[in-house]
Amino acid sequence: MSIETAIPTGTDLVDEINRLRKERKAVILAHYYQKPELQDIADFVGDSLELSKKAADTDAEVIAFCGVKFMADTAKILSPEKIVVLPDMEAGCSLEDSCPPDKFRAFREAHPDHIALTYINCSTEVKALSDVIVTSSSAETILQQIPRDQKIIFGPDRHLGGYLNRKFDRDMLLWPGICIVHEAFSESELLKLKAQNPDAPIAAHPECPPHILDHADHVGSTSSILQFAKTFPGDTLIVATEPHIIHQMEKAIPEKTFIGAPGADGNCNCNICPYMALNTMEKLYLALRDLEPRIEIEESLRLAAKSSLDRMLEMASGTIGKGDLGRV
Ligand code: 13P
Ligand code: SF4
Repeated sequence: MSIETAIPTGTDLVDEINRLRKERKAVILAHYYQKPELQDIADFVGDSLELSKKAADTDAEVIAFCGVKFMADTAKILSPEKIVVLPDMEAGCSLEDSCPPDKFRAFREAHPDHIALTYINCSTEVKALSDVIVTSSSAETILQQIPRDQKIIFGPDRHLGGYLNRKFDRDMLLWPGICIVHEAFSESELLKLKAQNPDAPIAAHPECPPHILDHADHVGSTSSILQFAKTFPGDTLIVATEPHIIHQMEKAIPEKTFIGAPGADGNCNCNICPYMALNTMEKLYLALRDLEPRIEIEESLRLAAKSSLDRMLEMASGTIGKGDLGRV
């Protein structure tokens, strides 16, 4: 049945989602890259780390995850007793796709003296093959707790890994994955935009390639870019990440101007994440009504993936000893 025919004509989606949220004892979590109406109806909007923590801590019975599949998988890994629904099960991630578990396993086996520090944008199977997971907001804190002489594989995002290598003078071995969204920013168009707005700083996500990061005044996760937007002294900011985050900036600081960094065609529409964009209010309503599509993870796989995620949560808050990396 199509979405249109599944929803009775005249349904007020906001009213229905609010009714179902109470009836199901559900919490709605949304990433900053979701459509504004999904951000606005969510109980909590955040970056990957914040959403993982919310999923681990919530006492709701249902988590409706407005984000992509690896994020909803993470919620289920951390909260297995809860029903986790993802409005559109096709909401994947190019980084996850770039790192098939069998190839990642072979890569690990080829480098037995390396630990695997792995970006959360990967499958549950790859998490299970990893030692520590990081998000873009926890990666720097976690990397600094790993002894400098420890050899490290970093995957799947080679741009985030390369940024960390340069910033901390490390030589982590990089898996060759990229985010198609951050890869699409154009340096020449960015420089044209900067020439038109010479006083506007540039804030960029570390998934951007180095030729974009080289021009950035601030590099950080979505939540750190949002924080920079709230605190930088000027009135205009160029934002080199998925443009839906600008919704939160405009809500928080309506007097400032936020310009999405352009792609090769000179506008920022090519930087909308096509996976995040699959979630809609209609699909969220159906997910809460039907409690489908539901995330299910086989228990031994879940436990294996949970150990690298737990390590992230401990190391991100500094509660694990230096070098205490168990499975190395
Ligand atoms: P954050 O952890 O910064 O929210 O990033 C998630 C993501 O998918 C960026 O593309
Ligand atoms: Fe994946 Fe990039 Fe979309 Fe983030 S923006 S979910 S890394 S494809």
